Amino acid sequence: MGSFHGVLLVGLFFLGMLVSSLCQDEDSDNFSAVYIVTLREAPAVHYDAELRRSSINGVRHGGASERLNIHKPRFRNISRTDRRYSSYIARVHDSLLRRVFRGEKYLKLYSYHYLINGFAVFVTQDQVDKLSRRREVANVVLDFSVRTATTHTPRFLGLPQGAWVQGGGYESAGEGVVIGFIDTGIDPTHSSFDDHTSERPYPVPAHFSGICEVTPDFPSGSCNRKLIAARHFASSAITRGVFNSSQDYASPFDGEGHGTHTASIAAGNHGIRVVVAGHHFGNASGMAPRSHIAVYKALYKSFGGFAADVVAAIDQAAQDGVDIISLSITPNRRPPGIATFFNPIDMALLSAVKAGIFVVQAAGNTGPSPKSMSSFSPWIFTVGSSSHDRNYSNSIMLGNNVTITGVGLAPGTDTMYTLISATHALNNGTTVSDDMYVGECQDSSNFNWDLVRGNLLICSYSIRFVLGISTIHKSLETAKNLSAIGVVFTMDAFVIGFQLNPTPMKLPGIIIPSPEDSKVLLKYYNLSLERDIMTKRITKFGALATICGGLKANYSTSAPKIMYYSARGPDPEDNFLDDADIMKPNLVAPGNSIWAAWSSVGQDSIEFQGEHFAMMSGTSMAAPHVAGLAALVRQKFPNFSPSAIASALSTTASLYDRNGGPIMAQRAYAFPDQNQSPATPFDMGSGFVNATAALNPGLIFDTSYDNYMSFLCGINGSAPVVLNYTGESCWTYNSTINGGDLNLPSITIAKLNRSRTVLRTVRNVAANETYSVGWSAPFGVSLKVSPLHFSIASGETQVLSVFVNATSNSTTASYGRIGLFGHLGHVVNIPLSVIVKITYNTTANG
Ligand SMILES: *[C@@H]1O[C@H](CO)[C@@H](O)[C@H](O)[C@H]1NC(C)=O
Ligand SMILES: *[C@@H]1O[C@H](CO)[C@@H](O)[C@H](O)[C@H]1NC(C)=O
Ligand SMILES: *[C@@H]1O[C@H](CO)[C@@H](O)[C@H](O)[C@H]1NC(C)=O
Ligand SMILES: *[C@@H]1O[C@H](CO)[C@@H](O)[C@H](O)[C@H]1NC(C)=O
Ligand SMILES: *[C@@H]1O[C@H](CO)[C@@H](O)[C@H](O)[C@H]1NC(C)=O
Ligand SMILES: *[C@@H]1O[C@H](CO)[C@@H](O)[C@H](O)[C@H]1NC(C)=O
Ligand SMILES: *[C@@H]1O[C@H](CO)[C@@H](O)[C@H](O)[C@H]1NC(C)=O
Ligand SMILES: *[C@@H]1O[C@H](CO)[C@@H](O)[C@H](O)[C@H]1NC(C)=O
Ligand SMILES: *[C@@H]1O[C@H](CO)[C@@H](O)[C@H](O)[C@H]1NC(C)=O
Ligand SMILES: *[C@@H]1O[C@H](CO)[C@@H](O)[C@H](O)[C@H]1NC(C)=O
Ligand SMILES: *[C@@H]1O[C@H](CO)[C@@H](O)[C@H](O)[C@H]1NC(C)=O
Ligand SMILES: *[C@@H]1O[C@H](CO)[C@@H](O)[C@H](O)[C@H]1NC(C)=O
Repeated sequence: MGSFHGVLLVGLFFLGMLVSSLCQDEDSDNFSAVYIVTLREAPAVHYDAELRRSSINGVRHGGASERLNIHKPRFRNISRTDRRYSSYIARVHDSLLRRVFRGEKYLKLYSYHYLINGFAVFVTQDQVDKLSRRREVANVVLDFSVRTATTHTPRFLGLPQGAWVQGGGYESAGEGVVIGFIDTGIDPTHSSFDDHTSERPYPVPAHFSGICEVTPDFPSGSCNRKLIAARHFASSAITRGVFNSSQDYASPFDGEGHGTHTASIAAGNHGIRVVVAGHHFGNASGMAPRSHIAVYKALYKSFGGFAADVVAAIDQAAQDGVDIISLSITPNRRPPGIATFFNPIDMALLSAVKAGIFVVQAAGNTGPSPKSMSSFSPWIFTVGSSSHDRNYSNSIMLGNNVTITGVGLAPGTDTMYTLISATHALNNGTTVSDDMYVGECQDSSNFNWDLVRGNLLICSYSIRFVLGISTIHKSLETAKNLSAIGVVFTMDAFVIGFQLNPTPMKLPGIIIPSPEDSKVLLKYYNLSLERDIMTKRITKFGALATICGGLKANYSTSAPKIMYYSARGPDPEDNFLDDADIMKPNLVAPGNSIWAAWSSVGQDSIEFQGEHFAMMSGTSMAAPHVAGLAALVRQKFPNFSPSAIASALSTTASLYDRNGGPIMAQRAYAFPDQNQSPATPFDMGSGFVNATAALNPGLIFDTSYDNYMSFLCGINGSAPVVLNYTGESCWTYNSTINGGDLNLPSITIAKLNRSRTVLRTVRNVAANETYSVGWSAPFGVSLKVSPLHFSIASGETQVLSVFVNATSNSTTASYGRIGLFGHLGHVVNIPLSVIVKITYNTTANG
């Protein structure tokens, strides 16, 4: 039984795969499909005058323009907002397509010009072959689908809005920073996105140049100085015929709810009252309430999204000048090919990082098994989901003084009331054999008003609620129509081990999540019935109960813990057995049962339809927490590179829960709280985000664009792919390095053959300080770090050498930590994971 729910979920995933493979079948025949095409010539970002590190090693210039006879302006030093180069590139694309397809039908969906020079085009396989043969064309990739990373099983024990991290500083927290959201759009009418929350001037940052689309459902005036840009990208979806304009809105408007939720988590206004089902749950605030929001809608309610649209959104966000990109989306499948990093989305994001943009992505909800990670690249900051320190619980006390705990954001009853089971309250025309689900209370016409009125109605909660076939909302309507005092949901035995969300309820109510506890309640109920000895008819309902209510939050000291659905490392390097020497996830943040703004027409969750706030769970909710906190780091350290921001967030992460014990990780779908053990770096990366500490990191690990390129070039046989994606040739990079050599604030060695030395360089962003080094070595490995002590002046760098030596073979990863302890109180935490795989000398082995 324990796996029943898991099986169901697998079933749903298969459905998703079926849909995507249908699209693929079209391609293998001679049907048209969407392709993302990259050209050899450099994109605009390479010429951007504002970029500090403007090394454009190995870019192949020229070519297309001469042959195509288009006047190429001389671009050595253009501004990001100068559209001349972009329009030149678009003309080159059109001209190329015309020449290649003389007279044939094709459809260009986008010209990408800022981060990558390329386009999305809808063509047949034959046409693709023609395109690929052109010298100007570097790379052709079939478009693929992506999805939001919210758990669509929206039932988890809940928490209110996250702890405020910037004590008192909300009025300026994140000022001057623009966060771009690649998501399902936004509801611009929500009070979380007003711009008249303070008297102080609130100018749109001068470095930003985005615009707002105006449509009937996103009218002029939708944008303001908080919501400063909003566009939508749907060409691939429309071309495939999956776009449904009545649900998906051909505008930046959020018809789903997810994008409104994530934007408000990162940068929603401070002190917005959360009122749901008529109850006040406190006030919400974004992590950086003074930051600006730029919306690039590329995901939709009825189908999810496609890479061609996502890349267009990323390209626009970068060109507009966002400081941070937040992606609560992941690919539906692991990218094929030589390495996971080589896919159009990650490669566009590499260009974005080169342009100085910090990129945050949800890890995916594909946990808890190892290597379930859906976010891959070292230049992307990958965030997993943890629980939070507050939760809501509810309970019911029975007439026999037994108390049972449950969930439900509902008021309590004032005193004891009589319990009556729905199956004992049917009217004369209804029997259980007519309708086997009548006990779920979905239709009040089945029930006898005289029996139910003034009592507590017992309804049964089945897997049909999980699937959305039955709803709590309808059960409550039934209870209201029958004048019941409240509703008690008992758990069907099939839903065993499943965690429930505290659904908001207008009436007194409770859901008892445990089937065992449900049995206790039903046994008491049945034993309390009085029956006529002859007819066996019920003459009296003797069971009593009072619902205590679940509107008040209480505090859990075992938080944070890693949620079972949060995707785990190791980072898959490819579709074979190889792991990358890259630690993923990078960090965990609150993602479970998060209250945040909801679109007024949000369809994503039945229980929150029509509400202005919703409680959602997933790594989707964790990523924007980090996007908002990164805005605070960017505000304090405007010159930090994306990798420096990542380093500040990572090295200062916390390793302990509120009890002072290790952070735990849930390891199973069923009974997740009974299947947990201390979290490893593959569960939580560096740990749980600590915003206060991130604003004062002491030392920083920097990684440059050139380092990432060297890393890509270091992958066996990658040179042609690197050339195809970036136009840069690997001979200009030091391709002897691998992931373990990247200057990341972590050390990951997927195959340790005897011993290895890795170097790390730290830079002091604080005052002069003296550090000492300590560590705990992974099992089966000895460590030596040198120097053991060092003094580092402000602004200076220090190289650390870490010698890792295998002392015993292992088949699984083992974990350790290195700590750098400064005399002024800075603690820099570096997680290690090692798998010893001693490869024997073939000669010696015979
Ligand atoms: C594919 O379709 C095109 C026209 O759309 C046709 O000219 C070509 O022969 C077809 N190729 C194959 C392999 O069926
Ligand atoms: C590029 O433009 C910036 C200002 O936009 C200027 O400061 C810089 O000197 C220019 N560099 C070159 C090489 O022209
Ligand atoms: C690079 O792109 C060309 C043209 O599309 C293609 O023929 C070639 O296979 C690609 N190389 C790699 C390694 O992907
Ligand atoms: C589009 O959405 C509307 C409203 O949700 C629905 O009634 C309609 O069937 C959908 N159309 C298609 C083609 O799916
Ligand atoms: C329940 O507890 C109350 C107060 O403690 C007590 O008076 C009452 O007798 C108990 N009832 C039962 C059925 O145990
Ligand atoms: C249901 O049937 C019983 C006896 O068979 C009768 O007393 C009662 O009035 C009926 N109730 C309704 C609502 O028809
Ligand atoms: C977060 O960091 C601050 C400042 O370093 C520290 O005082 C606090 O204890 C940390 N919190 C946790 C939960 O580790
Ligand atoms: C390349 O990187 C390796 C590993 O970090 C280093 O040992 C070597 O000196 C570098 N070579 C060059 C030419 O920079
Ligand atoms: C910091 O160290 C540098 C180099 O050792 C030294 O020149 C400087 O005076 C020191 N600053 C302070 C405030 O001690
Ligand atoms: C590494 O470990 C091996 C076996 O555990 C040991 O023999 C060897 O001396 C160690 N090497 C160094 C440099 O410590
Ligand atoms: C590793 O295992 C092999 C046999 O499986 C053994 O011969 C070898 O000594 C082991 N190496 C270490 C370092 O324990
Ligand atoms: C491999 O074995 C050969 C012959 O036994 C020996 O000469 C060589 O040094 C060994 N290589 C390594 C890396 O141990």
